Parts: sequence; structure tokens; C-alpha cells
Amino acid sequence: MTAVSAQGPPPRRRPGGGVYLHVPFCASLCSYCHFPRTDRHDAASRRRVVEAVLAEFALRRDACATLRDGRRPALTCYVGGGTPSVLEPDLFVRLLQGTWGRLARSPRPEVTAEANPESFDEGRADAWREAGVGRVSLGVQSLDADVLRLLGRRCDPDRARAALRLAAARFPRVSADWILAPGCRRERLAREFAEARELGVGHVSFYILELHAGTPLAADVAAGRLPRPRDAEVESLYLGACEDLERLGYRQYEISNFCLPGQRSRHNAAYWRRTPYLGLGPGAHGFAGNRRYANVADLTRYVAEVEAGRLPEARADRLGPAARRLERMFLPLRTAAGAPLRDLPANDAVLARGEAEGLWRRARGRLALTPRGRLRIDDVESLFAGLARSGPVDTPKSFGLTCGAVPGTGATGAAG
Ligand SMILES: C[S@@+](CC[C@H](N)C(=O)[O-])C[C@H]1O[C@@H](n2cnc3c(N)ncnc32)[C@H](O)[C@@H]1O
Repeated sequence: MTAVSAQGPPPRRRPGGGVYLHVPFCASLCSYCHFPRTDRHDAASRRRVVEAVLAEFALRRDACATLRDGRRPALTCYVGGGTPSVLEPDLFVRLLQGTWGRLARSPRPEVTAEANPESFDEGRADAWREAGVGRVSLGVQSLDADVLRLLGRRCDPDRARAALRLAAARFPRVSADWILAPGCRRERLAREFAEARELGVGHVSFYILELHAGTPLAADVAAGRLPRPRDAEVESLYLGACEDLERLGYRQYEISNFCLPGQRSRHNAAYWRRTPYLGLGPGAHGFAGNRRYANVADLTRYVAEVEAGRLPEARADRLGPAARRLERMFLPLRTAAGAPLRDLPANDAVLARGEAEGLWRRARGRLALTPRGRLRIDDVESLFAGLARSGPVDTPKSFGLTCGAVPGTGATGAAG
């Protein structure tokens, strides 16, 4: 029985929430990137946007209320981009302290900031640590100069190594992003991951390169200047790399995320559990009370909306029961633990078919995708979404799923 004091039950503490801060500035633009970001900025525009983010925080006082008064302690903060390390250290600290720093935080919060190797230096590392950052996520992408060139990255492999060394010397937790791009070779990738392990990287986010309409890379592929990556080759490289990472001790806990013991990203895990989070900044996404919103990505419009005292939202959706049900199926399906079988609309014959085709396994009341199934998550989701809409169907002879690209992330910090 729960003890109730003479003053009545203690105030109800809800599970904690997260905060995502989007920094939309980059030193240069990568050929593949579709995230909200710009390479046209100066000290004045950086300051103006940071001030606008602080003003947005004030505008969202209702959403912040439960985080601020401790009813929902803030558990994690993720400063993503863009490239947060482009910000001057004092501006970065102002951004963090003027938002996250004003909330009631849990005793051991997780605070992550993304950095690019070429703009991460000792001054930033010290300022970030002082301001409470405990985890740095470096956008390495590759340690192969040819692959970096193809991706339009400015950084060379030695600079990336130096940044990883600096991060590991200053922060208890270091993550690094890698991309499976054309030109990657299995042995070479395995050597890069082994090097990352030696340099102190405890967490790896490994993404399959996605071609997004409107990016220079997609245009090059469409015009035949670059070959379209072949599904079979991508599949074998991804599956091989997953094995190599596991051999090095990195456990795969989500489609694109691998970590050594104790190094899991709590911020990302919260997204997959549908925990509320406050998203602030141009193009940031947020979620609270079954409402999902996306901020205006255009910097001028974002600043103008906030300065006029309006919420800078481009879109907001209140999720109905059907949408909530889909999220409860699909978000945990991304993780190694999988989704509870009770949340899935499939009958036993459908479940047995997917198992026979090596797409998933069932254990302890959950359905978890196999590595092959993870590569086809888009198709698996369509299958379950179709079943949820139409109810029980005859069992197909075969799902015959072909390989699709692993989906990426929006500006939510569901990376690194
Ligand atoms: C929003 S980006 C910012 C990271 C950092 N500023 C950088 O440039 O490395 C976060 C991560 O998403 C991944 N990413 C971005 N665009 C991608 C794409 N088209 N396909 C796959 N992964 C992508 C990259 O690994 C990147 O590090």
C-alpha cells in the first residue's frame, strides 16, 4: 500500500521530459544534407537567432510549466544542428543556460552537444563542459579522405582524429556519427570503427546515406554524374558493419545506434518511448500532450515570428487515437527491444510469415526486427499500418520485401 502523509498525497511527478535546441549554422554545406541550416551567417545573425530561441522559450511558458516547476523534471538536453560548435562559446553558454538552465532538472541529466571536428577546439570544449555538457557527438562521417570528399565534407581524417581525442580527454561520453556512403568498403569501415574505439568513442550512430530531393548529391545521382547506390551492396555493407561494431563491443540498440555498456543515448531513447520534449529553434520539432509541432525553418521568418510574439510553428498536429496507435507500434520497432505484440495488429499467421522470412523474431511478448528487417523498416511499417487500417487479412504467401533505405531523422536530435 502507498503511504499517504497527513497533508495528502505528494504532488504527482510525471516521467521526465527532454529539450532539443536547434543551432541552424554550418561553416559549409554538405552535398547530402537536408536539415534546416545555413552557411550564410555572421556574429550578429548568430546572436539574433540565439536571442530569438530564448524568446521562443519564454513564449512556450505553458509547455515549459511542468518542466519548470519540477512536475516533469527535465532529464535530457540535446543541442543539435546544423553545427552547434560554430557558435562562439559565450553564445553557446547563453543558449543553454537561458533555456535548459531555467528548468527543474533531474539530479543526473544527460546534456549532449553536436560538434564538427573542424570547429571543435579546446576553448569550446572547456566552455561546454563548464556549462554542463557531459556528452559530445562529433560528425565524423568517415576517416577516408575520398569518402569525405564525395560527401562534400571540409574536414580531413587527421582533424577528425584530433577532435575525437580532444572530446575523449574532456568529456565522459563521446559519440560519433558515421555515414555509409558510396566508396565505403567493409574492411576499411571496420578499421575506422576499431580506431574510434581506441580513441575513446563509446557510442556510434551509423546512417545509410539518404538521397533527399533538392540536395546537390541527389541532383548528381539523378543526372548520372554519380552512380545510384545499389541495394544489394548497401545491404551487405550495413549488415557487415553491424557485425563488426558488435565484435568491437558496440551493442546495436536501434537501427542506426550502437554503444558500449552504459553509453546509450537517453535523449534518443526518450523519443522512441514517446516522452514529451520541448523543441526550440528554427526547424525544431517538439512533442507534448499528444501534440507534435514543427517550427518554421526559414531563419528570417523564424526570428520575425518570435519577435512579433507569435509561436514560430509551421505545422502542428494533435494526434488522434489512430495516429497514436501507429506511433506506439513504430517507434519501439526501431529499437532492439522491439514493440509489444499486444500493440501490433497482426495475427499469428502473419507474425509466423515474417519470422520465416527472417524479418523479425518474437520473444517475451515482443516483436523485434532482425538486421534484415531493420533494413526494410519502411516496408514493415507499411505492412502493419495496412493491417491496422484493414483489420485481419488472409496471410500473404510471401511479404517479398525489397531493401529500402534506413530512414533518417528530422531536427529532433534523434541522432548521435
Ligand atoms: C543534422 S546532422 C548534423 C551533424 C554535424 N553538423 C555534421 O555536419 O556532421 C546529424 C547527422 O545526420 C546524419 N545525416 C545527415 N544527412 C544525412 C543523409 N542524407 N543521409 C544519412 N545521414 C545523414 C549525419 O551523420 C550527421 O552527422
